[in-house]
Amino acid sequence: MESSRLPLSGRIAIVTGAAGDLGAAIAGRFLLAGARVAWLDRDRAGAEARARLGPAPERSVALGCDVADADSARQAVEATAAHFGALHILVNNAAIVSPRLPIGELGVDDWRRALDVNVTGAFLMAKWAIPHLLRAPGAVVLNIASQLGHVTNPGAGAYSASKAALLGLTRSIAVDYAQQGLRAVSLSPGSVMTSRLTRRYGSEAAASARLAPRHPLGRIATPAEIAEAALFLASDAAAFVTGTDLLADGGYTAV
Ligand SMILES: NC(=O)c1ccc[n+]([C@@H]2O[C@H](COP(=O)([O-])OP(=O)(O)OC[C@H]3O[C@@H](n4cnc5c(N)ncnc54)[C@H](O)[C@@H]3O)[C@@H](O)[C@H]2O)c1
Repeated sequence: MESSRLPLSGRIAIVTGAAGDLGAAIAGRFLLAGARVAWLDRDRAGAEARARLGPAPERSVALGCDVADADSARQAVEATAAHFGALHILVNNAAIVSPRLPIGELGVDDWRRALDVNVTGAFLMAKWAIPHLLRAPGAVVLNIASQLGHVTNPGAGAYSASKAALLGLTRSIAVDYAQQGLRAVSLSPGSVMTSRLTRRYGSEAAASARLAPRHPLGRIATPAEIAEAALFLASDAAAFVTGTDLLADGGYTAV
C-alpha cells in the first residue's frame, strides 16, 4: 500500500508510557500506519530502546517525560511539536497501579500518586497538546482507560477511581472542543499480557490462569489487539466517534 494511503499517513502522534508493552505496541502500530511518533516515558532509556527496535526508527523520536509534572509534560509536548512541526494525536497511555489494599488501608500518598499520574498526567498532556491539536486536521486525544474504570476489584480503589475519572476527562475534552473539530475518546482494555502482569503474577502462564477465566472469551488480550483498537479510534475511520469509550475487554464487563 502506498504510504500516502495508510490510515495515519502525515499524522504526528505522542504516545506516553511508550517504554511499556502496550504503549510500545500502540506506537509501533501507528508507525506501521504511516504516522511519525514521539515515544514518551519517564524511563527515557526504555523509550529510546523501544523506538530503536520499532518498525520505523527514522520516523520516531524518544523523549523522557514525567506526565505528572506540569513542566516536564509541557516540555515534551513542545519538543515533539518542534521536532515534527505539528501534533495530531495524543495517546495518554502512561499509568501506574497502587498497592492492592482496601480503601481504609490505602496510604494517602499512594492514592494521590495514582490520581496524579493516571488523571492529572492525562490532563496536563492534553492541556499542553490542545493548542497544537486545534491546528491539526483529524486531531484526537485518546485516553487509555481500563475495564476497571467501569467495574472494580477488591483493593483496586485508587486505580479504578483514576480510570473512571479518565472517562469523565475524555467526555469533557470532547465537549469542550467538538466545535473546533478535535475528538476525544477512551479505550478500556480488559487484562492485557504485558510485563506489568507477568511481574505481578510471576509468569504469563500464572497471569493467564488467574485472569483468563474472568473474561468470557476465556483468555486475556495481546498488546497487538489493543493497539489495533487504538488505531481505529485515532484514525479517520472513527471520525464520528467522540466523547465515548470503547471497551475491548473480552466481555469482562458484560457478565
Ligand atoms: N496490562 C493490563 O492488563 C491493562 C489493562 C487495562 C488497562 N491497562 C492500561 O494500559 C496502559 C499501559 O499498561 P501496561 O500494562 O503497558 O503498563 P506498564 O506498567 O507496563 O507500562 C506503563 C508505562 O508508563 C510509564 N510511566 C509510569 N508513570 C509515568 C509517568 N509519571 N510519566 C511517564 N511515564 C510513566 C512506565 O515507565 C511504563 O513504561 C495503562 O494506562 C494501563 O492502566 C492495562
